[in-house]
Formats: sequence, C-alpha cells, structure tokens
Amino acid sequence: KIIVLDFGGQYNQLIARRVRDEGVYAEVYASDIDLDKLKAMQPKGLIFTGGPQSVFKEESQHIDKKVFELGIPILGFCYGAQLIAHTLDGKVETAPVSEYGKTKTEVKTDATLFRGVPAEISSWMSHTDYISKVPSGFTVTAHTENCPVAAMEDTSRHIYATQFHPEVQHTEYGKELIHNFLYDVCGCKGDWKMDSFAEAEIQRIRETVGDGKVLLALSGGVDSSVAATLMAKAIGKQLTCVFVDHGLLRKDEGDEVEAVFGPKGKYDLNFIRVNAGPEYFEKLKGVEEPEQKRKIIGEQFIRIFEREAKKIGAVDFLCQGTIYADVVESGLGKGAVIKSHHNVGGLPKNIEFRAIIEPLRNLFKDEVRKVGLELGLPEALVYRQPFPGPGLGVRIIGEVTPEKVKIVQEADSIYREEIKKAGLARELSQYFAALTNLRSVGVMGDFRTYDYAVALRAVKTDDFMTAECAEIPFAVLQTVMNRIVNEVKGVNRVFYDLTSKPPGTIELE
Ligand code: XMP
Repeated sequence: KIIVLDFGGQYNQLIARRVRDEGVYAEVYASDIDLDKLKAMQPKGLIFTGGPQSVFKEESQHIDKKVFELGIPILGFCYGAQLIAHTLDGKVETAPVSEYGKTKTEVKTDATLFRGVPAEISSWMSHTDYISKVPSGFTVTAHTENCPVAAMEDTSRHIYATQFHPEVQHTEYGKELIHNFLYDVCGCKGDWKMDSFAEAEIQRIRETVGDGKVLLALSGGVDSSVAATLMAKAIGKQLTCVFVDHGLLRKDEGDEVEAVFGPKGKYDLNFIRVNAGPEYFEKLKGVEEPEQKRKIIGEQFIRIFEREAKKIGAVDFLCQGTIYADVVESGLGKGAVIKSHHNVGGLPKNIEFRAIIEPLRNLFKDEVRKVGLELGLPEALVYRQPFPGPGLGVRIIGEVTPEKVKIVQEADSIYREEIKKAGLARELSQYFAALTNLRSVGVMGDFRTYDYAVALRAVKTDDFMTAECAEIPFAVLQTVMNRIVNEVKGVNRVFYDLTSKPPGTIELE
C-alpha cells in the first residue's frame, strides 16, 4: 500500500483517492507518525501532501530526516515538495511572485514522473513559497515562468516532488504523473480493488471490536447501510442496528429497509425497527416553523435511540456511517446557519460506549457505493438518492400531519416512477415532490375542489452546495401532473420549481 502523510492540505483524501483509482490501496496518516510504525506497515511508497504553512517556520509541521533513509520511494506535492527541499540541503524561500490556479508548466519529458506527458502542460498551483535551490543529488524536471522548480527528482534515492497539485482535476496529466510514480517508481501492480478494502476493513473491525458489542443507527441511506453490512459481515450478532422509522420516510421505504436488514434479510445481525411515527406526529402537532420542526425531529430521534439503547444494555462501540464528505463539512461550516442539518445517527449524549467506529470515514461517496455493490446490497439501495435526515418533515411546508405525509408520499412515488420510466434517474442529482401549504380552487368532474398544490423539484449538482434546476421534458412533467391530480386525493394543482441554489435551497425547508 501507499501511505499519504497529511501536512494539513485541503486535498489529502483526494490524493489517497487518486491512488486507489489507479488500483493501489492508500491510506492517510498524520505527518507526525512514528517512523518505526510507518516502516512496520511496509508501504511501497510515501506521498507528502500540501499544507498551508511555511516550512522555514519553527511551528510548522516537519518530518524526521531519517524518513529519507528508509529506502521507501517518496513523492511530495506543494508543501510536501518544499519540505523535502528544506529537510535535505535545498532551500525554500518566499516566492517573489505567488502562483494561484492554472499555470503553464514546462516539463522534461524524459523525467520519470513525466513519461508520456507532453512538454507543456497546464498545472494547478497554489503557493507563496517556492524551492529556490534543489538539494544535492536532485535535478529540476519542470518549471514555470515564476517558479524555477515546479518539479524535481533524485532518481537514485527515489525521491520526487512537484510544486503543483497533480491530484486536482485542473492539472493536466496529473493522473499519468501519479500513475508513473506508483507503477514505475514504487513497482505497484494495480491489483487492488474495492473488495480488498472490504476484506481488510472487515479484518480491522474484528480486531478492534474483539468480542465487544456494537450499536448502529440505521437510516436506510447508502452510508449507514454499507456500514451496517460491513459490520454484520465482520461481527454478526455482536451488532445491533436500531432503525428508527419516524413515519416521515418515502413510500414503502421502511419496509424496504426491513427487507434487507430485518430477520428475513440475508444478514446475521440484531435488527430493531421502531415505528415511531405516532410519537413524531404528536410532537409536531401545530408546529410550522422549519427550524423548530428540524429541531424536534432531531431531538426526538436521539431520545428514541437512547431509549432503545438502554433496553439493549451496555455497548462497547457506536458505529457511524460517516464518510469523507461529512468529515470535511463538519470541519468547515463556520458560516451562518442556513439550516440545522441533521444526519440520523447524530451523537446521543446518554449512551455510554468506549469508542466510535467509522469504517467509511476515508471513502468518497462513489467509493462507498462500490463497496456496497461488492458486499451484495441491492442496487436500488446503493444508488438511492440523498434523503434528508428529517425526511418528509422538511418537504411539507407548515404543520406535518399523517394525512399530508400520505399525500406527499403518493405524489413523490408517482414522480419517481415516471422519472425512472423516462430514463432520467441517473442524470438527476436529486428529485422529489414536496407539499406546499397552498390550497387553491379547482374543478373536477363538475365539482368545485379546494385542495393542496404539490411542487415537483429536480436538480443537478456535483456537491449539493450549489445546484441548478434540471430540464425535465415537458411531456414527462405533464404525465406526472396528470397522474398526481388523478391518483392522489387532496391535490388539485402541480407546480414545477425552477429555482436554482442559491437563492433557493434544494429542500423547501
Ligand atoms: P439544501 O436543502 O440545504 O440541501 O440545499 C442540500 C442537500 O442536503 C440534504 N439535506 C439534509 N441531509 N440531513 C441530511 O442528512 C438534513 O437535515 C438535511 N437537510 C437537507 C438535501 O436533501 C440535499 O441533498
């Protein structure tokens, strides 16, 4: 495997991910890892990440010089490159001209990293310091107008570095460069697949858990389902999954979760389904304000989860389906509160456990999906679209009642069916029906109606931070409208929401 040493840059997990994309397993470790421990893991190569500091400052993260004597090939990016120069006998200084963004870069095509790469590429730079003198034994293998050492190599010691970031998409041929390091320098074979991840992780879970008991809050979403499956395969009945059905799930979703993980499913675990709908409706009676609704739903979840946990008795571990995006988002999020997002599985305060286990912590969403498929989870579950923790509670404007939930479930189910039929599902990031609090007059079979309006939403987005309304063919929208007004009692009007994010958000509340 390859070990990525983390010096605090933004793209660290992305580096590990690029390596895994090349069929080589990679893990990220803190940069102050003990060298003996590092050696014991027998990595085929090390990658030093970027980072926000200056290598010549005392308080910055440094590295033991002995790392260069281990005989393990090393590749450094940005801060990592500067650290190599600084720790050996090169020189790093504040650059007269900082470089940010796409930068024309000339590379030596006979250098190891640049085999198969054209002599001029566009690379992604982001630095205020630069290497002004390479250490002895090194040669310069790339430069830009303002950066004399955009890349360097010491082929005899197998140390390589680039000032730019090959791991980001904006660097042309970054993939080839990483490939060259892995295959030509480290001698990796590229025979690693996601199922090896699952195997290794299952082994690791067994070692961590021993004969302990593990509790997991299952929401039925992709992440907690994949985490549950991994845990079940690793420790079987030592795992208890608590599935709190808050009555605000999509149509039939609760039963689908039970079919996979319940006693009739194929996994050997303890599964507890709590049908808490009535409790939630009781708490939500008369509540209209969106944040208050979110808060009540979140708190109620914790309360029910704690109550169930108490029945089970002492547990040793709490397992969470946290994935890498969650780790990043919780690290940021210092801005204004737009919505108090809640992931079913938020930390309960009154359950005692020794430690948290997060088997998917280092994976990106599409990697989690791959693991899920390899573990044999149904495709419908693995490719399930994102669904907010508070469920239909935030897709019903105003007070939430069982009748309104039923309306939105039926309308949403029709919408999803038609989108699928039209072959549009994979190209949309998220699509759903919501219930507006608007009632209007209509006419049906010569009778006056005074019923609710349903809003249809469909968006395209990469990161869900911004989103565009998707262009659904008019004929599809019309079919959906027709079916909803005919088949769903209590609805006499259908709107299509054209709003992008910003200014709208994806959910209506
Ligand atoms: P917004 O509405 O903020 O949604 O544009 C962005 C994405 O987040 C989902 N979402 C949530 N997910 N708990 C979640 O786990 C929540 O409380 C929550 N609220 C919104 C939303 O479905 C969209 O994918």
